[in-house]
Amino acid sequence: MAKVLGIGNAVLDIVLNVPHALHDDEELRATQRHIQVGGNVSNSLYILNQLGHDTSLCTTMGGDSEAKQLLTGLKDRHIEVEHIQRFIKGRTPTSYVSLNAENGHRAIVHYRDLPELSFDHFAKIEIEDFDWLHFEGRNIENLKGMLNIAKTFLTHQPISLEVEKPRDGIEALLPQANLIFFSHHYASSKGFKDGETLLKAMQAQAPASNLICTWGTKGAWLCSSDGVIHHVPAENVSPIIDTLGAGDTFNAAVIHHLIEGKSLLEAVQQASQLAAKKCMKMGLDDILAEPEVASAIANISQLSNSKTTVVQAKGLQQAVVLIKYEGEVKAYLNNCPHQNVPLNEAYKIDVNPFEKTMKCSVHDAFFRIEDGLCIEGPCWDEALKTVDVEVDENGDIFLAS
Ligand code: FRU
Repeated sequence: MAKVLGIGNAVLDIVLNVPHALHDDEELRATQRHIQVGGNVSNSLYILNQLGHDTSLCTTMGGDSEAKQLLTGLKDRHIEVEHIQRFIKGRTPTSYVSLNAENGHRAIVHYRDLPELSFDHFAKIEIEDFDWLHFEGRNIENLKGMLNIAKTFLTHQPISLEVEKPRDGIEALLPQANLIFFSHHYASSKGFKDGETLLKAMQAQAPASNLICTWGTKGAWLCSSDGVIHHVPAENVSPIIDTLGAGDTFNAAVIHHLIEGKSLLEAVQQASQLAAKKCMKMGLDDILAEPEVASAIANISQLSNSKTTVVQAKGLQQAVVLIKYEGEVKAYLNNCPHQNVPLNEAYKIDVNPFEKTMKCSVHDAFFRIEDGLCIEGPCWDEALKTVDVEVDENGDIFLAS
């Protein structure tokens, strides 16, 4: 077990699960809402806690009511808060996150009106009491001095730095860190087409540092001070449920495996697996729990041709509408494309076995049972979203893997 100090942001994330990405002029109904602690370093510390380490956060916090919520959230995550710098007039940084149920991808609108962490505040911390310091690559003006004292006064404790976004002057800080995480966002904004070309260029700037560049489905590249670049392919992630905090999970897992004495290559391989696992579940809680064995959502004997069966399925944010059609099982998301409301919101879903249609109870849109196409009503020519299912030899119905 190690003591890790994280220096970066604490954010209140308001996460809305939405059926699809928001278009201009659209009003969308969220299927779920979670309010949780966020921010890259805060997320990484939460994962490090779950991996068995003691963590402390050095950040700034406002004096509004949301700040209380944030503080409680951090304590619930067992993150030590004694090194937080308070600004009574500051507002809590907030991210409005929409999570797209179609592909698990997130979009973030971030609001910030809070002073940055000061050098003087950081300088008062007994950093020698920690085994590892992890910095978020922001607040460059003050970060310079913080990295400087860390590098000067620490004897054996590694310093890691996350470079997520391009920021003026950040490159000058690279040699101060023993381990640097570059995002593909940073790499592409600098004109690099993959992690390998980025790391080659960064080696010249920080020849003694371990470098990592993550690139979503392209995998990750790494290079230690021996100068050899390795590529770790991306894990297979299916279904993608929630990508929020996947990068933060990756960073935490690399730090953890290095603390455990693994090589940089092994640490990146293990971290890719944990980040993939994170994408297949909602949120950052219980990150180490094994995925549950799939359970049947219904049995074919429960279904009929003249009536729908609406069931909840683990991993899907919306319920599933099941109906028998010519001996087969038809399955659709319980979401009317007209106003993104459940088909049975106002009443049950009426089925007409002669016309072979089913009707949304809210505004009377008629959908063909065969393929979910709307053939009459306000969303004419749009279709219900098909859910892929498999039926086993006992008639049990599962979400297709
Ligand atoms: C995820 C995250 C969110 C936060 C946002 C800040 O990596 O840290 O928790 O709101 O990014 O940019």
